[in-house]
Amino acid sequence: MNIRWYLEQAFSERLSEVAGEPVAAQVRQSGRPEFGHYQVNGVMAAAKKIRTNPRELATRVLASEPLADVLSAEVAGPGFINLTLTPGFLASQMLDRGDRLGVNPVTPEQIVVDYSAPNLAKEMHIGHLRSTSIGDAIVRVLEFLGHRVTRANHVGDWGAQFGSLIAYMDMLSRDGHALSSELKDLERFYRAASALFKSDPDFASRARGYVVKLQAGDPHCRELWQQFINESIRHCQEVYEKFNITLRREDIRAESAYNDDLPKVIAELQELGLLEENEGARCVFLPEFVGKDDRPLPAIIQKSDGGYPYMASDLAAVRYRSRELKVNRALYVVGGEQQLHLRQVFAVARAAGYIADEQVFRHLSFGMVLRPDGSRFKTREGADVKLVDVLDEAVERAYGLVSDKNPELPESERRNVARVVGIGAVKYAELSKNRTTDYIFDWDTMLSFEGNTAPYLQYAYTRIRSIFRRAGIDPDQVPQSGTELVLSDQHEQRLALTVLRFPEALDSVLEDYQANVLCGYLYDLATHFMAFYEHCPVLDVEEPARSSRLMLCNTAVRTLGQGLDLLGIETVERM
Ligand code: ARG
Repeated sequence: MNIRWYLEQAFSERLSEVAGEPVAAQVRQSGRPEFGHYQVNGVMAAAKKIRTNPRELATRVLASEPLADVLSAEVAGPGFINLTLTPGFLASQMLDRGDRLGVNPVTPEQIVVDYSAPNLAKEMHIGHLRSTSIGDAIVRVLEFLGHRVTRANHVGDWGAQFGSLIAYMDMLSRDGHALSSELKDLERFYRAASALFKSDPDFASRARGYVVKLQAGDPHCRELWQQFINESIRHCQEVYEKFNITLRREDIRAESAYNDDLPKVIAELQELGLLEENEGARCVFLPEFVGKDDRPLPAIIQKSDGGYPYMASDLAAVRYRSRELKVNRALYVVGGEQQLHLRQVFAVARAAGYIADEQVFRHLSFGMVLRPDGSRFKTREGADVKLVDVLDEAVERAYGLVSDKNPELPESERRNVARVVGIGAVKYAELSKNRTTDYIFDWDTMLSFEGNTAPYLQYAYTRIRSIFRRAGIDPDQVPQSGTELVLSDQHEQRLALTVLRFPEALDSVLEDYQANVLCGYLYDLATHFMAFYEHCPVLDVEEPARSSRLMLCNTAVRTLGQGLDLLGIETVERM
């Protein structure tokens, strides 16, 4: 249960009762969240309505029954009510948190999340970190809340680059090379093909011919193309697995999947009178898009050579998501540089009637990944840094740290801890920043065991779990109800209150699809646990405090584990 909502509901009911007509109360948290202070607004508006003194109305609200035992409350200022949650209230809320840790399922919506979506001509590079990890975290949170989510991996598998790739494949196989081994390093393959395209006019004209043949469905071209695509997808899936991303092969609906729909889109736009010829291309002009010199800015749907640009397959994808998937919401986790593109897609799709008024199509934009010196992330040769290399380096670095920290762990366990910590660190570094701004990729910060980092949270997790191990208690057997919970120390109360804020934290994540809200919450949780642990002995204390604290620890660790899982971050038992 979301405490703020609970209070809002309870006070709206009381206020309406006392005022004699329906009025809504608004409740907001005041001060630091772990103190449990809230303020109720709405009394003054109600008092004005029924022409009475607001302070007096507030006093009557507070005098009414069931609220008194859960809160200490006072009338403040011209007619606010200030609340502090009582330890008794916290204790009652802590009981029976259940598997879902107090999160009530929502009314399910059908939601598409479009994320990751690499271009298959090349290997995934560091730029794909953001869309992939942010999208996956949002998907996990939405599903946990009970929404029906379709993961849409709108990979780029069509277009001019594939001409060079096919031409190069054809050339190599004619020369007797085994394509399967040539395709091992896709990045090198892509570079070799592009270099030839630039330096060899013969090759370039063959490549252009292959694009046309591919689009016309020539079987030989199709076969080579398919072979390349398969290899590239296999590579993506390997990265997803390594990075603990939930995208499966079935979630891919590539640009080419919309090929057959493209002529229909053209016909429908034509029918509606939206298409105009402009220098041989077919375009839609909408008044809200103006380019330089105030000239109208076209959305190009079909190029003058008959080819379909990126815009066209995106329109077809909107049409499919709206009509076939019947989405309530579609979220596009795509970099900020495609803002204009997506605005045009959504606007043209609305004009074409593909998006109904009540359907939400939204671009969740994000900034770039930069080096510590603020420069763009490239190799020394100016190429993109491969994502798989970044992940491998993270695990290698984590292995060094873990080995220093805990050399007596067996080698195989250290390897596993290094994997969990390294991958977690990279992902958390992404997710803990506001997604809309650029962020600095810095190994030392993200792998630090102190501060708002994955290793810190994973370490806090092991600390709590070790309490149970030392006591020889199976945490899953700790009773979740029936025990008396006493929260007498302020550190206990703050930890309990933080645990109880979990549902609220998830709701806030979805307000603007910011995973960093969940990170901030988990960091608070870990910090409050550490403070509690420093001040409150758990095992060496009399009953009922012992059982009570064990239960508090158990709920805290389950919340921490669940929260990390929603970010796609694993935990270990010791590190
Ligand atoms: N493949 C595109 C790229 O690499 C991203 C696709 C994003 N999704 C979309 N529906 N346009 O830039």
